[in-house]
Amino acid sequence: MACAITGMTPAEKSAVADTWKTLAANKSGNGVALFLQLFSSHPNTFNYFKNFEGKSVDQIKDTADMRAHACAVMYAMGSLVESLDDPECMVGLVKKIARNHKGRDIGKSQFELLRGLYGSYLDKSLGGAATPAVKAAWDKFFDCFDNLVEKFQA
Ligand code: HEM
Repeated sequence: MACAITGMTPAEKSAVADTWKTLAANKSGNGVALFLQLFSSHPNTFNYFKNFEGKSVDQIKDTADMRAHACAVMYAMGSLVESLDDPECMVGLVKKIARNHKGRDIGKSQFELLRGLYGSYLDKSLGGAATPAVKAAWDKFFDCFDNLVEKFQA
């Protein structure tokens, strides 16, 4: 039966948790790849990063600042994925992310951009393991996440 909070079935939660292990094995590399894909698909998202002001994506892509941001996001994602079995805790974690991104003017629509490219990101980072079922499970995860962001930023 689907979880009342996330809307995800146990099989979908497992698909997310299992594939997360592969992504988390290289948090810096996979996190940088995720944000570089965001910047190339939606160049305006780069403007939110005040510490990269005046620089191009090419100039920052190999910097320690980029890797540090990527790691921070990936550790936060890891906490969310690890909380799928305690969805109330997951909601509390999303609340924190929603509130600290609100101050940067980053809302549901920006998080939806990440959701929109996540399937192709999984293809690149997981190869054949990114099955349609895996991609659908991650999409449900982000659907839940993005709706909670909207709720907590209202
Ligand atoms: C699953 C999605 C995301 C997660 C889990 C996440 C998580 C985080 C975390 C943990 C931080 C560092 C802690 C903090 O300062 O609050 C952070 C900072 C930040 N995030 Fe996100 N984020 C996500 C999506 C996004 C998106 C889509 C954007 C932009 C369109 C974005 C822009 C930023 C910016 C600009 C910062 C501040 C960077 C800095 O000053 O070093 N984030 N995010």
